[in-house]
Amino acid sequence: MAVKYVKNIICGGSVLLMASCTETPVSKENAFVENLLSQMTIDEKLGQMNQVAWGDWCDMAKKGQIGSVLNITNINDIREMQRCAVEESRLGIPVLVARDVIHGYKTIFPIPLGQAATFNPEIVEKGARVSAIEASSEGIRWTFSPMVDISRDPRWGRIAESFGEDQYLSSVLGSAMVRGYQGDDLTDPTSIAACVKHFVGYGAAEGGRDYNSTYITENSLRNVYLKPFQSAAQEGALTYMTSFNDNDGIPCSANKKILKDILRKEWGFDGVVVSDWASIGEMVPHGFAHDNKEAGMQAINAGVDMEMVSGSYVAYGKELLAEKKIDIKSIDEAVRNILRVKYRLGLFENPYFENNPEILYAPEHLDAAKQAAIEGTILLKNERNVLPLDRNKVKTLAIIGPLADAPYEQMGTWVFDGEKERSVTPLTAISQMLNVSADKMDGQYKFNVVNNYSNSNKVSGTTNVIFEPGLAYSRDKNKSGIPAAVSAARRADAVVVFVGEESILSGEAHSLADISLQGAQKELIDALATTGKDIIMVVMAGRPLTIGDQIDKSAAVLYSFHPGTMGGPALAEIIFGEAVPSGKTPVTFPKMVGQIPLYYNHNMTGRPASRTETLLNEIPVEAGQTSLGCTSFYLDAGFDPLYPFGYGLSYTTFEIGAPKTDATEYNMNGVITASCVITNTGNMEATEVLQLYIRDLVGSVTRPVKELKAFERVTLKPGETKEVTFSLPVSELAFWDADMKYGVEKGDFLLWINNSSLPSESAAFKVK
Ligand code: BGC
Repeated sequence: MAVKYVKNIICGGSVLLMASCTETPVSKENAFVENLLSQMTIDEKLGQMNQVAWGDWCDMAKKGQIGSVLNITNINDIREMQRCAVEESRLGIPVLVARDVIHGYKTIFPIPLGQAATFNPEIVEKGARVSAIEASSEGIRWTFSPMVDISRDPRWGRIAESFGEDQYLSSVLGSAMVRGYQGDDLTDPTSIAACVKHFVGYGAAEGGRDYNSTYITENSLRNVYLKPFQSAAQEGALTYMTSFNDNDGIPCSANKKILKDILRKEWGFDGVVVSDWASIGEMVPHGFAHDNKEAGMQAINAGVDMEMVSGSYVAYGKELLAEKKIDIKSIDEAVRNILRVKYRLGLFENPYFENNPEILYAPEHLDAAKQAAIEGTILLKNERNVLPLDRNKVKTLAIIGPLADAPYEQMGTWVFDGEKERSVTPLTAISQMLNVSADKMDGQYKFNVVNNYSNSNKVSGTTNVIFEPGLAYSRDKNKSGIPAAVSAARRADAVVVFVGEESILSGEAHSLADISLQGAQKELIDALATTGKDIIMVVMAGRPLTIGDQIDKSAAVLYSFHPGTMGGPALAEIIFGEAVPSGKTPVTFPKMVGQIPLYYNHNMTGRPASRTETLLNEIPVEAGQTSLGCTSFYLDAGFDPLYPFGYGLSYTTFEIGAPKTDATEYNMNGVITASCVITNTGNMEATEVLQLYIRDLVGSVTRPVKELKAFERVTLKPGETKEVTFSLPVSELAFWDADMKYGVEKGDFLLWINNSSLPSESAAFKVK
């Protein structure tokens, strides 16, 4: 029977009371869990709290020694392990099978940062649904996603897995992913449990170096970092994962305040908290515990229900109980949480799965992945409308660069199951679109089209394609291929160069101190620029890169955070104008690394730059200390980033009128109705992302210069005008004050509606 997740406890927690309760899904669930718990031995309880990644799964399952496994990939092994658990263990408790399905299982969607660039919760939800359908067809019922770590540092490799720097965008998209994974009915065999990670603050690693300590104050923890985690709890996320970092000296796997006071008591979460990979054992190298036993004790007492791979719970749980260092109540609570999640997923009734190989890479999955890649592509520059290319005018097209035909690299980080053989690269997609057959190509490349994608407008091949990568891979320093690439550019009337990062350059433990183009890619762009041709640069990367110089040398620039399986078709359609870019930067692009951390919603400083200050090269020799203006800016980098948050161009132009509010004063329980008129003033139908920002002018603690509060994608035909209205409850202006009280403060506010976080006309209002 389908049991929809019901959050409130209807008749208290006691089993004795159950008889007097009317039977509701919650009371049935409680009765089931308590009944099972009452029959369990200590060893079986500790077994449930154990997640393993290797060993004799079947034997452990029979003995009730595991609650969950991760990284079993063979479907027969999964079935057999589950059979051992359900049919041969004393209590028949099914095992929860977990896997990192981060941005797709087989059909790979853009990396989460690329999905964030869509500003489209529907496409993000769809991606997660596709992932769940594919993964569950091979026995997986738990994914370690979404990662909602706020990330303000592109040196940190895991920025790729995040939704960027903004807590509102991350909340909306993180919740959308939870919905997609968990579906409408948790017991549906295609629903998989989401795991919201990494709890909490991991993205604030000092210096952007992975696993480093964080020093997040309670103010910014509550106002920034916790926000998306709280939204996911409201969405009904079934599980959370503790993070590797210590915040202000407390490793997150031992942080009672976060795990008990906030997550459980304040947010009412009753699912599972799992540690990160060995993050309990790693409290020993952290210098927070003497040994694994003490680390296990700290984690159990802090409220980590399940231990991922470090094994201290099963090894020392009984001893810790006997020594009264942990108590049975904590163990029971952890096991209750685990059994509850298994119950909600319907695993007790239906522990097995239907293998369905046809569903992998289903045409509708590939279409959704392509759409996500299209919407996530950001047009950063388009001088003289160089893009889109007109296929009837381009007689010879030069495709250049190490990412033009790199099927593995375009999938991005955290891909365990996607197969590069199924990736369609830009070279393949463009050649297929232009109907260029392999033997017609100028150059040695023979392409092999695996996925056919829908493309209505194929024309017979009138365009000659020359493929000269110039470099073999992104870090390649061997420049011997560059002259051939330059010669190809000279012979062509359109030059598209695909540069960026291999997927291994971002992701876990892949932080960089230099985030400019690697290898000889800068030299490749320099050399191409000498041809005088309009260079169209397409960047595929796991993070924002410091590429100002290469952008200056290009006429047009498309940025595609590793776009996944269908990245090639998505880019081909954008390059040839079958699709119009609408992606927006989900994170600020710095000009240089020294500006980091650089994010749009920083607090107001006492000395904001006036932009009339003197910059480095204008400073007179022997200038006096105060002659430059004592304000907040860099002498050498000036005032601005390379690109601000929320930025992205279109092939059309939009005119956005001044914002209006329906009143100038609102009560605390009021709703602000804000609107603006937007017109498509260009000649292509296109989508614009309208973004509503506010500023609270004076607060009891200093407030951000701007905060995103709402956004909407608006599609308009050429010449079409629309009034777009946002309803913003005044309660959305609330923040945590210095005493950690949450509420709206009376006073004056500004409101903007624009297509980026850049300055624009504002509307003023008051909250009384
Ligand atoms: C990562 C997690 C991941 C886990 C399991 C860890 O190293 O930090 O994000 O879910 O491994 O693979």
